[in-house]
Amino acid sequence: MRHFTSVADIGDIPSAISEALAIKSDRFAYKHLGENRTLLMIFFNSSLRTRLSTQKAALNLGMNVMVLDVNQGAWKLETERGVIMDGDRPEHLLEAIPVMGSYCDVIGVRSFARFESKADDYSEKIISQFIEHSGRPVFSMEAATRHPLQSLADLITIEEHKTVDRPKVVMTWAPHPKALPQAVPNSFAEWITAAGYDLVITHPHGYELDPRFTAGATIEYDQDKALAGADFVYAKNWSAYADPNYGKVLSTDRAWTVTAEKMALTNNAFFMHCLPVRRNMIVSDDVIEGPRSLVIPEAANREISAQLVLKRILQDLP
Ligand code: CP
Repeated sequence: MRHFTSVADIGDIPSAISEALAIKSDRFAYKHLGENRTLLMIFFNSSLRTRLSTQKAALNLGMNVMVLDVNQGAWKLETERGVIMDGDRPEHLLEAIPVMGSYCDVIGVRSFARFESKADDYSEKIISQFIEHSGRPVFSMEAATRHPLQSLADLITIEEHKTVDRPKVVMTWAPHPKALPQAVPNSFAEWITAAGYDLVITHPHGYELDPRFTAGATIEYDQDKALAGADFVYAKNWSAYADPNYGKVLSTDRAWTVTAEKMALTNNAFFMHCLPVRRNMIVSDDVIEGPRSLVIPEAANREISAQLVLKRILQDLP
């Protein structure tokens, strides 16, 4: 593997899941692969799970790790070409990227959608520049339109808990006070359909996702109908994708909060969320704390998804 930004980079999904479960059963078996190799993790946005799990995965593989929080302690970076740099950003990404590449062997990048330009967000302007100019393998630690390490961890978690070959997976929009990117739901939709599961997506009118990600899923605007018979309920908020409301919050209707009453409509479903989660907006306390909640094992599997990706990148380094 050279770069990892979407499900297209993982190859055969059953093979990837088998490899992930083998890593999980013996996570230090490949410690030699990372010897004298350095991972640089670059964060344009905050993180708890991605930061810790990816660092742990790299340490499991014997790598050295450096972490740069671009907005804390580094020069503020200009990202647009052609700008007269007379403002508060003294360094351009086009110098910073190859400099960063010169200090490491592998680069992880977190850079969320900015909601300034849908075209820029959906062309993945930031991570694409790292791929083009760093000279290093680059993997996404959540980019503008996808969060593939999260989706791979989600898939591993479903594989570990499913009791039928093709479980019914329901991804439900749930309310949140602030505008969130579409990266997690886009990515979850494309990974779950690629894995061949039945995916139903439910959300209020106006929250339709980019159809390039949801092809193969069923869209159901009635949340109760969608939840009927579900084996897994994946809750997530996202802001509007469709123009002219791109990046806007159209609803904070708490009738969409995942509660015990909502979960009672399912086939005793497991509850999933990528975290961080706003309790009693997205999900009620009793559901997230209940016996069918998978949020902690799901987060723990972030170490495994990161390790699988780093292992494959290390194995293909020249
Ligand atoms: N799920 C996830 O990516 O968590 P962080 O934002 O804390 O990394």
